[in-house]
This record gives sequence, C-alpha cells and structure tokens, in this order.
Amino acid sequence: MSFFVYRDGTLCAEGVPLPQIAAAHGTPCYVYSRAALLARLEEFRQALAGRDALVCYAVKANSNLAILNLFARAGAGFDIVSGGELARVVAAGGDPSRVVFSGVGKSADEMRQALAMGIFCFNVESAAELERLNDIAGQVVKRASIALRVNPDVDPKTHPYISTGLRGNKFGVAYGEALALYRHARALPHVDIAGIACHIGSQLLDPAPAAEAADKILTLTDRLAAEGIALRHLDLGGGIGIRYRDETPPSVAGYLAPILAKLAGRKEKILFEPGRALVGNAGILLTRIEHLKHGEEKNFAIVDAAMNDLMRPALYDAWHDILPVGQGASDTTEYEVVGPVCESGDFLGHARALAVAEGDLLSIMSAGAYGMAMSSNYNTRPRAAEVIVDGDQAFVVRERETIEQLFAGERVLP
Ligand code: LLP
Repeated sequence: MSFFVYRDGTLCAEGVPLPQIAAAHGTPCYVYSRAALLARLEEFRQALAGRDALVCYAVKANSNLAILNLFARAGAGFDIVSGGELARVVAAGGDPSRVVFSGVGKSADEMRQALAMGIFCFNVESAAELERLNDIAGQVVKRASIALRVNPDVDPKTHPYISTGLRGNKFGVAYGEALALYRHARALPHVDIAGIACHIGSQLLDPAPAAEAADKILTLTDRLAAEGIALRHLDLGGGIGIRYRDETPPSVAGYLAPILAKLAGRKEKILFEPGRALVGNAGILLTRIEHLKHGEEKNFAIVDAAMNDLMRPALYDAWHDILPVGQGASDTTEYEVVGPVCESGDFLGHARALAVAEGDLLSIMSAGAYGMAMSSNYNTRPRAAEVIVDGDQAFVVRERETIEQLFAGERVLP
C-alpha cells in the first residue's frame, strides 16, 4: 500500500496535498509518511511474532531524530556505525541497551562512548578492533559484549558498491578465520562473547543468499557451541530490498520466511538490521522545476533539487520514479531531470516522459532511505527541509539550513 497517492489530480502524502507542503516549507523538501514508516516496522513485528527477536533499524538509512523517535517508541532497537549515530539515538529517546554497533573503523573514543552508554553489542569486524576494544573496556572497567561480524562469502546479487559479504569486501572477519578469533576472544578478560553477526549487502530482492548466509552462520554457531562457546544471539543483518522501478521484492514476511525456517527450534535471540526496507518507500523528495531548457540533443527539466540532496542516481546510477505532482498538462516531452550543481553527473533521472511546465512540482519517489542521510552542502547549497505527514497534518522535523549555518565554523587567517 502506498501512502503517496493522487487525489483529484494532485499527489498527496497521506491526507496532505504536496503543493501545500511546498507552499508552506519551500523546495527541495523531503516528505515522509508517518503511517508508511510505522507500517513497515509493524510488518517485521508480525513476521517475528512469537520469537525472541529485535529489529535494529539501521540509522544510516535516515537518521532524522523524529524518525528515530517514532521507531524507538514502537520498540525498535538500532544499528549504528558511529558515535554520532549513537548520540542521535539517545537524543531521540532510543534505548542504548537495544543498540548494536557495526562498522570497520570504530575509534577509541567511540568505543568509550558506547561502553559508557551500555550498548547491547559491538559487532567486531577485525582482530585489531577486538584487541582495541578489550583494552578500552579494561581501562573503563567494563566488559564489552561482542559479536564477530563474519563474512559468509555469499553473493547477494546486487550493485557492487552495496555488496558487503564477499571475500574481497572490507567488511567482517573471513569465515575461515572466525573460529580462531572466537577462541582468542574467549581468552580476553574484558570482552563477553554474546553473539555472531553478518550482513551481506543491500537492496536484496531474493532471500536465497541471505538464507544461505544464515546457514553458514548456524554451522559456525554449532561448532562454537561444541567448543563451549555458547552464543546468545544471531544478528542476520539488513539488506531487504524495495521497489524503486519495476522490481518485485518479496514482502517482509516473504523475505524472512526462508531465513526463519532455518532457525526453527533455535534458542538464540534473533536480530535484523533493516534500513531501506523501513524508510525507503516512506519518503519522497519534493522539488520544483526552475527552467525547461530545450538543448540541441536533449530536453532538460532543471529542478531545484540536485545530487547534493539525493546522491543515489549520480553515485549508483540508481533509478527513482519521478512523478508530476499535478496532473494538468497533457503534452508529454522526454526530459533529462537535472539539478543546478556544476557536474554532468548531477541528474535525478534520464529520459523521463513528463507533461510539465516551468514552476511545476515533481516528486522524486522512494527517497526515504539514503537520501537526506547522504546529502551534502556541495556548491554551498543548504540542505533541504524535512517534513513528516501524519494524516492531514504536516510537521517540520528538520528546518531548511540557512546559508549562514554553512560557513559559521569557518575562519579567515589573521
Ligand atoms: N547493517 C549493516 C552492517 C549495514 O552496513 C547496512 C547498510 C545495513 C545494516 C542496512 O542495510 P539496508 O537494510 O538499508 O539495505 N547508500 C546505499 C546503501 C548502503 C548500505 C550500507 N549498509 C544506497 O543508497 O543504496
């Protein structure tokens, strides 16, 4: 079910027409549907009902405090990759004891911060990180709960930039080395072996590779148990894909079914770390056409959003549907939808058939995940406002940046 639908020829977010949001808050503007955000989390809850399970939302997908707060109130945990994300979770009312900390380069300060806050688990990605964590936990007289993030070496069949569980990736500990590293961890005084983790990639449309990874994780878990290393939880990562164009991803329940089937009868707590699946289709980027330009070879719709607002097309050649917010005009022209940034890679969509005029609003769909979170200030462009719609009300959850904020921390030489 979509929460962005046309009513009387105008695209709405739940009960609010998008032109109303543009008029009140300007463009470019990210608009999210509260109901859409919570519906996806609820799908996870239902699929995992009756199990000891924790859904840890991957904060990197969209770290707005209001979204974190909605998820915290709905009982979610969080998957973080930095001290900054941990601070956001706490500021949003999230419970640190439901936080897992992933990432290949945790600093000593980040480890101290996470230990002080009492996070659920560090997902350790290398032998070097394990040593550092043990040292730091010793200094602050704590025991760090750890899982090794194991690299199961399965091909998730997705974009190479977002595959993470292959032998050549920088992530995780090699499958063949995990056993030895667990044995070593057992001997360390300041770590407590809690679980095992894996994450094989993102935008996965087929659950088979994830089920294969789960199999490998279970094999390892059983070998560890045979040596007296009993794991309390299994973290199977995130990665569940969504529809951007014409993909047909399984439902949350459909994706999880083959994985949960492998886990039948197991006693360990189960964790998942979905990001995109929770927020991707719950948000759009609202933008206005500044100019229509008829070039020699192509026509351009130059909009006020750009690659600094939504980087996915430029970075991954990702497809996002682009819909006119009004459905008035009838003559369709093929446009390159581009932003004002001075790069040829600054596009939001190629060869889109649109019936539009200057000043019209466009909605870049499926922009809730890795949109605002990956935005930048390139070309000294203030970042967009963010709005959450709840029924017929719209709430600003992040104000548009001002130009002055952009260089407030800069100094000229004396
Ligand atoms: N857990 C770990 C350890 C991760 O590295 C990631 C994503 C997730 C969970 C959440 O994955 P998801 O459920 O969202 O697929 N910027 C790219 C995606 C990068 C994903 C990085 N890791 C994009 O825009 O497609």
